[in-house]
Amino acid sequence: MDKVIDFINVNREKYLDELKALLAIPSISALPQHASDVRRCAEWCANEMRRIGLQNVRLIDTPGNPVVNGDWLGASGAPTILFYGHYDVQPVDPLDLWESPPFEPTIRDGEIYARGSADDKGQVFMHFKAVEAHLKQNGRLPVNMRFILEGEEEVGSLNLDDFVRARKNELKADVVVISDSGMFERGVPSMCYGLRGLVYFQIDLRGSKTDLHSGSFGGAVANPALVLAQILAQMKDRGGRIKIPGFYDQVRPLEEAEREAWATLPFNEKKYRKDFGIPKLFGEAGYTTLERTWARPTFEVNGLLSGFTGEGAKTVPPAVAMAKVSMRLVPNQDPGTIADLFEAYVRKITPKTVELKITRMQGGKPWMTSFDNPFVQAAGRAIEKGFGRKPIFTREGGSIPVVSTFQEEMGLPSVLFGVGLPDENAHAPNEKLDLSNFHNGIIASAYLYEEIAAIAVPA
Ligand code: BES
Ligand code: MN
Ligand code: MN
Repeated sequence: MDKVIDFINVNREKYLDELKALLAIPSISALPQHASDVRRCAEWCANEMRRIGLQNVRLIDTPGNPVVNGDWLGASGAPTILFYGHYDVQPVDPLDLWESPPFEPTIRDGEIYARGSADDKGQVFMHFKAVEAHLKQNGRLPVNMRFILEGEEEVGSLNLDDFVRARKNELKADVVVISDSGMFERGVPSMCYGLRGLVYFQIDLRGSKTDLHSGSFGGAVANPALVLAQILAQMKDRGGRIKIPGFYDQVRPLEEAEREAWATLPFNEKKYRKDFGIPKLFGEAGYTTLERTWARPTFEVNGLLSGFTGEGAKTVPPAVAMAKVSMRLVPNQDPGTIADLFEAYVRKITPKTVELKITRMQGGKPWMTSFDNPFVQAAGRAIEKGFGRKPIFTREGGSIPVVSTFQEEMGLPSVLFGVGLPDENAHAPNEKLDLSNFHNGIIASAYLYEEIAAIAVPA
């Protein structure tokens, strides 16, 4: 292992130039005008995978963006890792809040700033470099590895479930490894053992054929903007509890041991509020902030659109109002069931004065594993070697829908080893990745393959 680690240390600077080239590609999956950039990014990844010595590297077309696939299967008898990551990124607006352009990667104070630096290109690239170091120095990997890199994660992985189902046999593995999550705090390496799920909706209301003059019509016709606000206001009570009937029925209660463990984590509520400019926290009564974000479901309004928002005053009630809303789910909530409950509730509380259209969008199941799983323990040891400190075990509030697909369709456990920081600005302006976490993450990944190699798996 020493020469693998030496190689990583010697090449530390070179990795930055390579990473910059990857981060410079604006692979924004949500915007059709970037379709060719998305493809270019897939090709860039494929070329890099070939260059570092992976085999059978190719793009596999899907009805959406291609999946980049490649493998190295020369470690007979050893376990097989299925590595999953995504090469697509979120849009960059509002652009004027970026201190350096999102696709001109810039290093400041030990961080690399660019869209995708943390989520997820930088973290995928760590594994490229760990694989390269093993292959260059030893001519082999200690484990077998298959890579699948997705180009649609940020738009809900619309084609990935079908992809996985159709290719179960080609993807045969013993464990999934993903680096697409975060560390609890700077200097506190973490292992994530739970993710929330998601259901997403668009609600459209129409109150009339066209906008109406409020002088002539106001008072006689329902205003869809106000009706929408009234509907949304009925989603949570004052104690932060969601009012959709049946919403909590499947929620697995937090275990006392979990609550106790989380209570000892170095979480500073005051600092959290200050860092993010939050006047006062709000959440479900009876739960701490960590519990609310890691283990409790939530309802959020992501966007609202209605009426006149320009300068000055216009006295015209709008004909339509629209909201994008989502719910984060926890084990054992089922997205389909929750979506049905939500839809029924919205239909019930929407007055007859407006026309209602509800559109279901992406979703994903929540996921959780037990941390006595040998692969999770192996990752814990690798992280300790890479970061010089034992990781803490966390859950996260974000969603990676394919994790539960791997579990349910293929029976595969996942190891979620992420190095993002809470202030990495994923999905926001000035996304960044800490370069020492990036470097230690490469070392930890190199150890991870070795640790997993020592686990006995069925032939
Ligand atoms: N990397 C994130 C998921 C994540 C976020 C994991 C925070 C752990 C902590 C991923 O790229 C993402 O943004 N997922 C979306 C999923 C959605 C588009 C279905 C999310 O969580 O909103
Ligand atoms: Mn991600
Ligand atoms: Mn993301």
